[in-house]
Amino acid sequence: MSFRPPKYPYERLDPLREKAASLEGGGVDLSVGNPCDPPSPAVLEVLGSADEGGATRGYPTSRGSLTARRAVAEWFGRRLDVEVAPEQVALCIGTKELVAGLPAWLHLRDPSRDTVLFPELAYPTYEMGALLAGLRAVPVPMGEGWHLRLDAIEEADAERALLLWVNSPGNPAGQVEDLGAAAAWGRERGVLVASDECYVEQTWQGRPSTILHHGTGGVLAVHSLSKRSNLAGMRFGWYTGDPEVVEFVREVRQHAGFMVPGAVQRAGAAALGDQAHADAQRERYRERLAFLRDVLARAGVGAPMPEGGIYLWAPAPGGDAWALAERLAAEAGLVVSPGEFYGRAGAGHVRVAAVAPMARLELVATRLAS
Ligand SMILES: Cc1ncc(COP(=O)(O)O)c(C=O)c1O
Repeated sequence: MSFRPPKYPYERLDPLREKAASLEGGGVDLSVGNPCDPPSPAVLEVLGSADEGGATRGYPTSRGSLTARRAVAEWFGRRLDVEVAPEQVALCIGTKELVAGLPAWLHLRDPSRDTVLFPELAYPTYEMGALLAGLRAVPVPMGEGWHLRLDAIEEADAERALLLWVNSPGNPAGQVEDLGAAAAWGRERGVLVASDECYVEQTWQGRPSTILHHGTGGVLAVHSLSKRSNLAGMRFGWYTGDPEVVEFVREVRQHAGFMVPGAVQRAGAAALGDQAHADAQRERYRERLAFLRDVLARAGVGAPMPEGGIYLWAPAPGGDAWALAERLAAEAGLVVSPGEFYGRAGAGHVRVAAVAPMARLELVATRLAS
């Protein structure tokens, strides 16, 4: 049977967007985690002189420039207190393409395994990557607080697994995972553990953590500037970890032409060097999450503050997420995502992304109050 892509989930919200937009003052779309705040001035300055050093002329490598990889390594040291050699870092064009492509490349490396394990409630691209590679996509059950239940993975699936995805802090539920336990689980079974850490700067509970705190063997840490630095439109991500896996993936990607444009590499290095900007952004998210939580609570929707990330994960009254999404769009012009977008387990929840300025959130609050 040929592969038919499902309808892209967020397109299913267009009728709700129309309804929200029809309110006076317009809609407030918090369905997609789309950053709305300005990037670092250092980034804009670099983009203004994009060709410096011939950055727009020659072909970049898939690995990325030494400047960009040094900036990544310095950031790891500064923010996560972990030593990473620039030689062990490689770039990706934002992380979505890496997440979507990794299963196929790992299957080339080990055709004897055919399974991708991923959290049952998660960013949908983990599953899509398996499907695009024609592999088995097996969801891993989650327990209390939406934490991954490694003990619930069938050994038969583990034996067939090419990789296990973990996401900490998690999208959409914001859980901070025990990455040491994940790394140990993978090492015991010879399964690569790929840790998507793109929300690490937005860690609200405890210190920001990376799977690299538990060594590099058998793991891959995956990162992005999209949320840290409001650069989703620039497409700059990176991966590092097990030296052999990094080198294999990098080589395949070099052959296939997955290269971050030279000017973007320069701008990405500038963004990584500007911690003050990322800190200010984190505070914006924290303020908005707390505000939205109170607004929703007054409307009868009790969402806890997440352990990390930029989303509220709210149980829908009566368990009907679409009904809640309809109500919020009609009454408050607020567009949220029904939880089923992130897996069947999320069907009774909605996800609210803290991605609009406070003035827009105040408009939502006023509408709900009346
Ligand atoms: C968990 C997770 N991983 C990866 C991504 C992709 O980010 P990007 O491709 O912009 O780096 C997202 C985007 O929302 C995400 O939520």
